[in-house]
Amino acid sequence: MEQSQRGAAADASFSNSEHSERPEHSEQVEPWWRGAVGYEVYVRSFADSDGDGVGDLLGIAGKLDYLEWLGVDVVWITPFYPSPGHDHGYDVSDYCGVSPRHGTLADFDTMVAEAHDRGLRVMVDIVPNHTSIEHPWFVSARCDPSGPDRDRYIWADPAPGGGLPNNWLSHFGGPAWTLDEASGQYWCHLFLPEQPDLNWRNPAVRDDFDSILRWWMERGVDGFRFDVAHGMVKDEQLRDNPQIAPLKDDMHPFEAFAAFEHRHDLDQLSNTEIFERWKRVCGPDQVLLLGEANAPWPDGMARYVAPGALDQAFFLRTAIMGWSPELLVQMVRSMHDAAPEGVSWVLSNHDRPRPVTRFGGGEAGLRRSLAMSVLLMALGGTPFIYQGEELGLPDGVLRGGSHDPVEIRDGCRTPMPWGSGACNGFSAGTPWIDSEPRPDEQTVAGQRRDPDAPLHRYRSLLAARKQHPDMWRAPLRWLDSADPQVIALRRGGVAVVANLSPAGTVFQLDSGGWQIVYQSRDACSIIPAGDGDVLSIPAETAAVLKTL
Ligand code: NOJ
Repeated sequence: MEQSQRGAAADASFSNSEHSERPEHSEQVEPWWRGAVGYEVYVRSFADSDGDGVGDLLGIAGKLDYLEWLGVDVVWITPFYPSPGHDHGYDVSDYCGVSPRHGTLADFDTMVAEAHDRGLRVMVDIVPNHTSIEHPWFVSARCDPSGPDRDRYIWADPAPGGGLPNNWLSHFGGPAWTLDEASGQYWCHLFLPEQPDLNWRNPAVRDDFDSILRWWMERGVDGFRFDVAHGMVKDEQLRDNPQIAPLKDDMHPFEAFAAFEHRHDLDQLSNTEIFERWKRVCGPDQVLLLGEANAPWPDGMARYVAPGALDQAFFLRTAIMGWSPELLVQMVRSMHDAAPEGVSWVLSNHDRPRPVTRFGGGEAGLRRSLAMSVLLMALGGTPFIYQGEELGLPDGVLRGGSHDPVEIRDGCRTPMPWGSGACNGFSAGTPWIDSEPRPDEQTVAGQRRDPDAPLHRYRSLLAARKQHPDMWRAPLRWLDSADPQVIALRRGGVAVVANLSPAGTVFQLDSGGWQIVYQSRDACSIIPAGDGDVLSIPAETAAVLKTL
């Protein structure tokens, strides 16, 4: 399609003449996601095209040139479906529609077509663990306990002596059960009471989700991100979870949740049957099936991406942990070794403080975050960047009250800062979340003018990955490191060294002839030696090297 025919909102400053160089879908000889880099768009806060203060699909369409310029390959869009919004879209009341807040189905089609014109793929977020309390299935299930929809959800009688059916907790605080006074039964919800959990043992639920996937595939989507993919099937007998730590009154809901081993509410083996089914529905190698599969340990994660199950799963530990270099090194190594191709590596998403903030804030946070990004870009699977990560943003500063049921997710959800002005070019109206405007040096426009800005560092990192495909394609071999805070790997003609320690170091390579093709800070150097070059690398820095 010609530039002039694209959506009205297209941002001309990022137009890129290289569209035709991307392969057509039909030319693919391996799944399109091999080597791809993803970008998560949190739709509410990305770009608002109509001035109502909420991001929308045409807003995304208007920023596709930017995403293409940045060098990402696939865009994951968080839920934009009709929803009462108790959990900002993760409480869906119609899986096949578009919320008027975010646009129309026609806008969706436009956005997908414009993405495909640029060779960008589109993934949508499917929320299969729970619906909204306003979904017609739940409305019917609740008002007619003997009707056919009742069994679409998980209902339980009170315990024999009265009270809650078991000790399961909601991630968002309090018990995972709410009493339906009319029927005297409780409904299960691993999140808010307004997010009742579906009963995945019911064939009708399975059939309906097959149809939902087909519906979006017919509209051209290239992949699905499955919310809470580890939570769908629950223990048939609804047994208590073992408690592993004492509960305290002042605990955050996430801490209280972690005081239990989730033996019976999460991570049930029969989730895999659902993934196998979805794989059959979606066909091999065309549509990426990517789960939010928050299994606690790497070997548990590996089950989700075993042959026949999901194609990939997000490994969330690196998006949750604070700055703990030795632990990060161990975690990355063990997760990679357990599932070399199956992990979608992430440093951030819309659920946790941004890495710059988590890793200590300021220059240090930025330096650490970029060094980690370099490492994750060399690990196989599909790495995803969360909107604003490429700008090295710290968490936004809220001015109003929290919008988040668990009060820790506002800072990473403030508007994407495109330029100057009251709400940094995100919206011509009043943004749904009130936050301090970002300074010019944290905006896309400001950083584009500064060649040393994080935006250019990230863009060059993605370019290096494309230019040196060994970085993700060649078999990975860990290189020995005497320092547990230094991690190094070799893939074909590429080596990646990440020095996460607080001191500069030298790293002995096992051959000569290396040159630096990317560094997170311009302070690395190679001391050549025929039989083994030495890389001098400062603290909290990562470098990509290639053999001459
Ligand atoms: C994970 C999503 O990323 C989060 O935002 C949501 O609140 C929960 N799942 C529940 O759907």
